[in-house]
Amino acid sequence: MFYLESSDIMRLRNLKDKDFWLQNCSYLIQDPYHYQGKWSEVFLNNHPIHLEIGMGKGDFIYEMARSHPEINFVGIEKYSNVLARAIKKYPEGLPNLRIICLDALKLEQVFAKEITTIYLNFSDPWPKKRNQDRRLTSKVFLHIYDSLFQGKKEIIMKTDNLGLFASSLVSLSQYGYLLEEVCLNLANSDIPNVMSEYEKKFVKLGVKINYLKAFK
Ligand SMILES: C[S@@+](CC[C@H](N)C(=O)[O-])C[C@H]1O[C@@H](n2cnc3c(N)ncnc32)[C@H](O)[C@@H]1O
Repeated sequence: MFYLESSDIMRLRNLKDKDFWLQNCSYLIQDPYHYQGKWSEVFLNNHPIHLEIGMGKGDFIYEMARSHPEINFVGIEKYSNVLARAIKKYPEGLPNLRIICLDALKLEQVFAKEITTIYLNFSDPWPKKRNQDRRLTSKVFLHIYDSLFQGKKEIIMKTDNLGLFASSLVSLSQYGYLLEEVCLNLANSDIPNVMSEYEKKFVKLGVKINYLKAFK
């Protein structure tokens, strides 16, 4: 049976004033390829850079940037419609936050060994086997992430989806990552946590959140 997930509906629904938000955002990087290898010039410091892939409406990355001024944050989102909603929600921005409208497949052209941590929050699960390469923890993407990381590679992931979580544990391990933390009920742990938009919805429904921190 074919059905639309809520994330698909959010992506498809057109935001009427989308162009206004995208054109007038001070922290949206319009030409990210130009800054490959030069992101310290964007932030005007050498602080570590953390990347969120699939930032959605931005709750997680905005709060992380607000509470960690000593870290620079870059959020990417594939759909401009969704990104415009994030900008509308957070019009002011922060000095240590930048966002980009980008498909993760193109990340290799945007960063050159400049990232220390990657966050994957409630990534699309792509449950069918024929779509497994589209999962953001498939070896296709892990290979892309290799060229982004500076030194130690760190991936932090949260998801409600047990299928995606299990396949990520396997894929990360097979790719040489070590699992530093694995938790099947984040709310019952003492792991410090900033909730994303999807996470807030799932927690309200009583859904358990899976968490992993892996490094290589
Ligand atoms: C289910 S939503 C979760 C949004 C947010 N991370 C949260 O937890 O509330 C997944 C998001 O990832 C984005 N996304 C999916 N594949 C992507 C890709 N290849 N590159 C960038 N963003 C992607 C989708 O457009 C969507 O906004």
